[in-house]
Amino acid sequence: MKYPYSGVEMTILNIGLVLILTMSTMTSVSSASSLKVGFYRSTCPSAESIVKKAVNKAVSSNPGIAAGLIRMHFHDCFVRGCDASILLDSITGQPAEKDNPINNPSLRGFEVIDEAKVEIESQCPQTVSCADILAFAARDSAYKVGGITYAVPSGRRDGRVSLEEEPFQNLPAPTFNAKQLKDSFAAKGLTLDEMVTLSGAHSIGVSHCSSFSSRLYSFNDTHPQDPTLNPKFANDLKKKCPQSSNSNGDPTVPLDVLTPNRLDNKYYVDLKNHHGILTSDQTLLTSSSTAGMVRNHARHDTQWASKYAEAMVKMGSIVTESKGEIRKNCRIVN
Ligand code: HEM
Ligand SMILES: *[C@@H]1O[C@H](CO)[C@@H](O)[C@H](O)[C@H]1NC(C)=O
Repeated sequence: MKYPYSGVEMTILNIGLVLILTMSTMTSVSSASSLKVGFYRSTCPSAESIVKKAVNKAVSSNPGIAAGLIRMHFHDCFVRGCDASILLDSITGQPAEKDNPINNPSLRGFEVIDEAKVEIESQCPQTVSCADILAFAARDSAYKVGGITYAVPSGRRDGRVSLEEEPFQNLPAPTFNAKQLKDSFAAKGLTLDEMVTLSGAHSIGVSHCSSFSSRLYSFNDTHPQDPTLNPKFANDLKKKCPQSSNSNGDPTVPLDVLTPNRLDNKYYVDLKNHHGILTSDQTLLTSSSTAGMVRNHARHDTQWASKYAEAMVKMGSIVTESKGEIRKNCRIVN
């Protein structure tokens, strides 16, 4: 996966973020209250249990799917709000978000959403939005691999637009520093504290070598290697991510070397050990604005978990689509 940001594009991106900030603070405030816990209690009482069953089955056979679904919800919510725009397939002449290199080929778990949707449609046709199914699936994933529980306010509507270029304009890049990450989350109405808390999702799942290999081989003119990376750990990573790895494509490494399949606070311990995989991970310890939060989360797992739950609910309430529709098939607009 490549992040083709040049210096010039970064400047444009930052200006864009300021504009989005002005717009999104209005939309997220006005819409947060329209979602409510138990929205389908009378119209489709089994909706949430159907999703949970599909998630449990998929994650039992491949824990990586939990990571995929949590990341999918994040990538949905940051682009046009949580409106299932990430689930729409590309159509001829109109490539969709899911085919942006940020998402393709790395984003995984689409088939779990499809499976839940088919079952829900058979019980309650055109009642439950795909955006809600994804929000439930991210929650059920966190329970399955981290024992984290929280209620998901629902009532989201599905959007009708998905544009390939929009993930680049709205999602943070792995090369971002703390200030850039802060601005990127602020543009979506999320605080610095919530940004650091939500980064704890990198306690599960993997990264492709291409997302961080510049830290190993081409950091800057005087330093080939990122000095914030533990040198011994960097050598391990170089073995898994050889500089000329064209023969075996783009390998992956776990984002949390301590407990790769458990959603917990060990990610923050990794950062203290200088074992953060992405620049955007390790910068949270390097930057004085966030280092204290990292150290605090590294010490208090339960406290982090409850903050994570709260921040996921807030991220999940970024809604820009108030009309929208209830899609019949999550991959295509009605
Ligand atoms: C803070 C800014 C963030 C940046 C720059 C970022 C960037 C990335 C990158 C580059 C990857 C690896 C993709 C690959 O190479 O395969 C990744 C993976 C992942 N991200 Fe983030 N991310 C951020 C925040 C978040 C948030 C807020 C969440 C969810 C709440 C999240 C959840 C995940 C998960 C679970 C994975 C592993 C996916 C898998 O194994 O399939 N990330 N992220
Ligand atoms: C390269 O990075 C190192 C460590 O962060 C820094 O001290 C140095 O000034 C940088 N050099 C250049 C040319 O940017």
